[in-house]
Amino acid sequence: MNISGNTILITGAGTGMGLIAAKVLAARGNRVIMVARDAERLRREAEALPGTLAYACDIADAGQVDGLLDWVRGNAPELNVLFLNAGVTHTYRLFDGTDAARNARLEMLVNFVSAVDLTHRFLPLLESRPNPALIVTTSGVVYAPDTTNPTYSATKAALHSYVQSMRYRLKQVDSPVRLFELVSPLVDTPFASGVKSDAKAKPETVIAELLRALEEDTFDIRPGSSQALYEAWRADPEKAAAMVNEVTGA
Ligand SMILES: NC(=O)c1ccc[n+]([C@@H]2O[C@H](COP(=O)([O-])OP(=O)(O)OC[C@H]3O[C@@H](n4cnc5c(N)ncnc54)[C@H](OP(=O)(O)O)[C@@H]3O)[C@@H](O)[C@H]2O)c1
Repeated sequence: MNISGNTILITGAGTGMGLIAAKVLAARGNRVIMVARDAERLRREAEALPGTLAYACDIADAGQVDGLLDWVRGNAPELNVLFLNAGVTHTYRLFDGTDAARNARLEMLVNFVSAVDLTHRFLPLLESRPNPALIVTTSGVVYAPDTTNPTYSATKAALHSYVQSMRYRLKQVDSPVRLFELVSPLVDTPFASGVKSDAKAKPETVIAELLRALEEDTFDIRPGSSQALYEAWRADPEKAAAMVNEVTGA
């Protein structure tokens, strides 16, 4: 796909990979709408970036997503790319007294249900535009769970499965929407601050790989260790599980 001249909405754009993507895509001549909950941080970051707009929204709140859709219709009706990147996790061990169901409810709502909600609501808008695309950030844990983030891993596996269903259906209905899955490796962002590892990729490296893949229409994007993990999982799922859990010190 053409990676200039688009209008791109990025969720989770206040920090980490979403923020780097906003910077790089704005610099490449795209209009970028940055979405996250922390309004003040978002405003600060967007002000420093020509070509960006900020909209504070909790994507887990259906009412706020209504507001986002209305705002996009009014302020950026030319939107043609949706980058679903926001995510949350809880790092803990199963059966250690943690309320795992409480963690799972929030993670499922933010990481999975909101993606279903946003894709259903935004797809008609995207499909009415030239060069439409949907980008979804999952994780290497879709192949083998990180047992220090057990319920989070399950939400990303659900999201990965949903991406496959969307691909199948979009093809069936001959949709013009290109669907990309960014299977992220472990990355040095606030999200992974609790993981002590020197195997973290730089967010800039992952986003550079994403842009290359978008340009080449490579729909399954596995930067760095995600590709190694994918190959290990295909050859020997137990080896893949060991790879993930050695890195996170499980
Ligand atoms: N870092 C890694 O090692 C790693 C590995 C695999 C996959 N991933 C995935 O990569 C994606 C980006 O994460 P990151 O590493 O860049 O971490 P990050 O810096 O923590 O970014 C996550 C972003 O999501 C936003 N967010 C969280 N809940 C939200 C909600 N309910 N509504 C709207 N925005 C929300 C956060 O902003 P607010 O707090 O302001 O809302 C934040 O900007 C996530 O989906 C994560 O699961 C990360």
